[in-house]
Amino acid sequence: MNRWAAFEKGDPGAVLEGAAEYLRFLKECNCSGFDLPKRSIARVENWGKAGESLSAIRSEVLRCRGCPLHQHRNRPVFGAGNGTARLVFVGEAPGRDEDLAGEPFVGEAGKLLTKIIAAMNLTREDVYICNILKCRPPENRNPLPQEVRACSPFLRRQIASIGPDFICALGAFAAQTLLKTDTPISRLRGSFHTFRSGGRRISVMPTFHPAFLLHHPERKRDVWADIQKLMQAMEPH
Ligand code: URA
Repeated sequence: MNRWAAFEKGDPGAVLEGAAEYLRFLKECNCSGFDLPKRSIARVENWGKAGESLSAIRSEVLRCRGCPLHQHRNRPVFGAGNGTARLVFVGEAPGRDEDLAGEPFVGEAGKLLTKIIAAMNLTREDVYICNILKCRPPENRNPLPQEVRACSPFLRRQIASIGPDFICALGAFAAQTLLKTDTPISRLRGSFHTFRSGGRRISVMPTFHPAFLLHHPERKRDVWADIQKLMQAMEPH
């Protein structure tokens, strides 16, 4: 498989390795400089730093073909809400409704999330809502590791651009991906963890996913306890 085919299959590492090989070749030819447009250099330098605009990241997501999910999507779901929010909700991946609307959490689980946000005395416009994956996996199957690898730089850049103080990770997948752990959600939820973003520490509260609550309403009590901890931590001291 050539490197571009590897990249299309969701292995950007193969492309980086190809680029490194090319740079070594240029060095062997005694080539000591590159004539890259300033705009491209600035864009690469800004990756993952505060100051990169959400709209610049969004336009890359809309064009992204970094993994095979782009072949099946109707619309990528970048994220929505306040681009300078103190609180970001991170879910797993768009479902059918989100894929059609191009907006996160607009289906049944989304209605429940909207109620949770209202219970915090906030609106969806006060917070930012996004997902680990920007494109819908077929039949809502679990995201594959190569899809997460290809997509998570977008989320990291998104979070760096927003600069929140808090993240609420919705469900096992979001919590385990953000915190790079395989600890079950039942043990992660209910206490704060740390996500590092461009030298800043962001407090992460994992809780159960609203879709899980639709089938296990008895767990709403746990989620409300987690959300209350979050509200308390967000209060000005
Ligand atoms: N579930 C998610 O994790 N994200 C959405 O946007 C919708 C449902």
